Amino acid sequence: MKVSIIGVGKVGSSLAFVLSTRNFVQELVLVGRSPESVMGDVLDLRHGQLFVECPTRIVAGTLADTAGSDVIAICASAPMPSNMADRLSLAPANVALMQGLLPELACLSPDSKIVIASNPVDVLVHFALEFTGFEPRQVIGTGTLLDSARFRQLLGEELQIHMDDIRANILGEHGDSQFPAMSCANAGGEPIDATPARYALAQQAARAGFEVFNRKGFTNYAIALAAADIIQVIALDTRHTMPVSLKVDGFLGVDDVCLSLPAVVGKRGIERILHPQLNEQEQEAFLHSASVVRKVIESVRE
Ligand code: LAC
Repeated sequence: MKVSIIGVGKVGSSLAFVLSTRNFVQELVLVGRSPESVMGDVLDLRHGQLFVECPTRIVAGTLADTAGSDVIAICASAPMPSNMADRLSLAPANVALMQGLLPELACLSPDSKIVIASNPVDVLVHFALEFTGFEPRQVIGTGTLLDSARFRQLLGEELQIHMDDIRANILGEHGDSQFPAMSCANAGGEPIDATPARYALAQQAARAGFEVFNRKGFTNYAIALAAADIIQVIALDTRHTMPVSLKVDGFLGVDDVCLSLPAVVGKRGIERILHPQLNEQEQEAFLHSASVVRKVIESVRE
């Protein structure tokens, strides 16, 4: 398994660290704007290899060195404004960045799966499909996997049940219009009732990224672990289900934007998109997310 990480800032270097401690990556290529700083990360990661079970070959490279990658993780981003209130304002700069990177990356690794962690992730997944010409199954955004993890952690504390056993997804946009699919949420098959307190936890999960951002200026650990989880599921072909940003396949009549829906993930990328039975209010929320992302895509094109 060869994984290339494009963008070695806070998220890219954290992802490299996580992957360097797992045992399924044989080769890890780091490509960043500042070769000296990337080499610093590479050396630091190599120095830790004694302490992991299966060493990974870790190299600093250029785009050309990514050729033949199984997975390409996109963590590159334009600088975040210090007063970032939402992720959508990054769209024009990061779409331009993707336009400069993705055609070449796709040419060099035509069978790869691209995992996007940069923001606004739903908009970037959409343009990544355009810039690469890849099949929709090949491009996956971390999307609301991270929001769902935050929500499940909060629900787990409230219910006193391990978060892994809480089946509760946040769907739609990885942004303000996201919503909890409470009508499908359960623990051990028992429905998790949609109380106002639980909607408040979903709100808290939706704002959690900014809680971190406003304190330290970026988020890195949880997003890196979320991206690593997707990459691991692809690498080991475990076919776990996870809410990730993908090209919506006509669900509720939406087929022109990328949003998070639960999907079965495996070695081909998105193996199957799942269609949850949402109630009326959740269906409206999903359509609202679609319209928010659609507007941003249109504004970037102008
Ligand atoms: C977050 C970033 C990745 O929510 O959007 O942490």
